[in-house]
Amino acid sequence: PLSAMEQEDGIRQELGNLHGIPLFTSFIEGWPQVKAFQARPDDLLISTYPKSGTTWLSEIMDQIYHDGDVEKCRRDAIYNRVPFLEVKVPKVPSGIEQLENTPSPRLVKTHLPVQLLPTSFWEKNCKIIYMARNPKDVVISYYYFHQMAKIHPDPGTKAEFLENFMAGKVAYGSWYDHVRGWWEKKQENMLYLFYEDMKKDPRREVQKILQFLGKELAEGTVEKILHHTSFQEMKKNPAANYETIPPTLMDHSLSPFLRKGISGDWKNHFTVAQNERFDQHYKEHMAGTDLHFQME
Ligand code: PPS
Repeated sequence: PLSAMEQEDGIRQELGNLHGIPLFTSFIEGWPQVKAFQARPDDLLISTYPKSGTTWLSEIMDQIYHDGDVEKCRRDAIYNRVPFLEVKVPKVPSGIEQLENTPSPRLVKTHLPVQLLPTSFWEKNCKIIYMARNPKDVVISYYYFHQMAKIHPDPGTKAEFLENFMAGKVAYGSWYDHVRGWWEKKQENMLYLFYEDMKKDPRREVQKILQFLGKELAEGTVEKILHHTSFQEMKKNPAANYETIPPTLMDHSLSPFLRKGISGDWKNHFTVAQNERFDQHYKEHMAGTDLHFQME
């Protein structure tokens, strides 16, 4: 039998290159099917750079779609309720296969940069909600996720990972290109949200979403949704916390999927020198955009 170490090495993937974007080789193998994906006009796309609040927004959306019916939202794990468009790993159905078996109206998750989104989402004029999170918290969250989610390459030390993140040498590439690319594509059928706003005033953000959807909910229902999508509630909800994924793929004992769920945790991890270097790099890479981030 394989030692734990060898098993782990068997699962971790090196990143390939998909049209200039570093991505898992197994995802790249599934790319032709993703590229040809036929969206339906009533599909709603949840788009994010990894670790930016995808699961939180997904749970909120599923709750809204089910009028805050908590039991209905426990019908399956979040990764089945909101299929992940480009996911493809050996031995389990791909995102495309899952989506083919999902009744409309579908919620679809993607981390693809805007230029790689299958064209059919634009052709069918699908609604899109993008959620962005400040890069300092993203890089720390992504670092811990690399440790627990075994598909990723070994992240190395925190300092090494920070360098790779800044250089865009991580799955899905440059955070800067991602948030800027989707920001520049903003249009009528797209809502651009921020994790930090959702933390500060989730009620206001949920109202924004409802307005965007043209949907009304009773005030009590919004309250209920806010309660059930809080970090504490989601962390103990097996349908939302990813604990149903086999531990060989996600090891929550190394770092739970719902890890801290706060803004500004980067302050517990960045050295003063790293922070100065990051700020300088950020300034250079965000020059000329009116896209701004709250770092806490
Ligand atoms: S993934 O794997 O890319 O889809 O991950 P994603 O869901 O985008 O991001 C995971 C981070 O989101 C935090 N999270 C939450 N924060 C606040 N409230 C709620 N309800 C919530 N649910 C998930 C999660 O804890 C990860 O952030 P960190 O900073 O690591 O805690």
